[in-house]
Amino acid sequence: MSPDEELRGRRCLITGAAGGIGEAAARLLCKDGAQVVVTDLDTTQLEALATDLTADGHIAHPLALDVTSESDVVAVIGQAARLMGGIDTLIANAGILTLDAIDDITLDAFRRTIEVNLIGTFLCARGHSFPSRSWWWVDRLYRLASRNRGRAQGNVVLCVEVRRRRHRAVACA
Ligand SMILES: NC(=O)c1ccc[n+]([C@@H]2O[C@H](COP(=O)([O-])OP(=O)(O)OC[C@H]3O[C@@H](n4cnc5c(N)ncnc54)[C@H](O)[C@@H]3O)[C@@H](O)[C@H]2O)c1
Repeated sequence: MSPDEELRGRRCLITGAAGGIGEAAARLLCKDGAQVVVTDLDTTQLEALATDLTADGHIAHPLALDVTSESDVVAVIGQAARLMGGIDTLIANAGILTLDAIDDITLDAFRRTIEVNLIGTFLCARGHSFPSRSWWWVDRLYRLASRNRGRAQGNVVLCVEVRRRRHRAVACA
């Protein structure tokens, strides 16, 4: 089975999908036949993305999600599983990237970054069971990030899948 064929019908949950790498991943996955639940804090952009994908004949559901909220994460994972009949793949992409000089970064801003990038990713990865499938597309996300015009030039995307109920994760930097 080719990688593209392997994606057909795959049910993917993507965090931080309102723009940048998350949006590009949603478009790529849909193009290859996956269905997606796209989530973000920014619901306006998210709904525009889902409308656009749906108009192109894809299956895309937008759900508001703050990845730092445990109750939000649990509720959204449950809702996503109901909408798609299960979840095969999580792209835990939501994050904050701060490129300021260290002297200019406030403690509050740093704490927020840890909360979103670390705790948020942990909560999503810990979520419900994400049944089997391979994770070859991590490589594609690399290539996608390097192709993406402007915003995504390199990435840190945590991909989590479960094989036989054992979580496997990879962080690409
Ligand atoms: N673009 C790069 O060059 C680069 C480099 C290193 C790491 N990264 C990481 O890759 C990921 C995606 O990068 P990007 O360039 O697409 O960033 P981006 O800012 O375009 O997208 C991140 C998305 O995460 C969402 N988000 C932030 N906090 C959230 C929260 N609490 N709950 C839910 N959603 C939240 C934002 O609304 C935004 O839509 C981020 O984690 C970023 O830190 C990117």
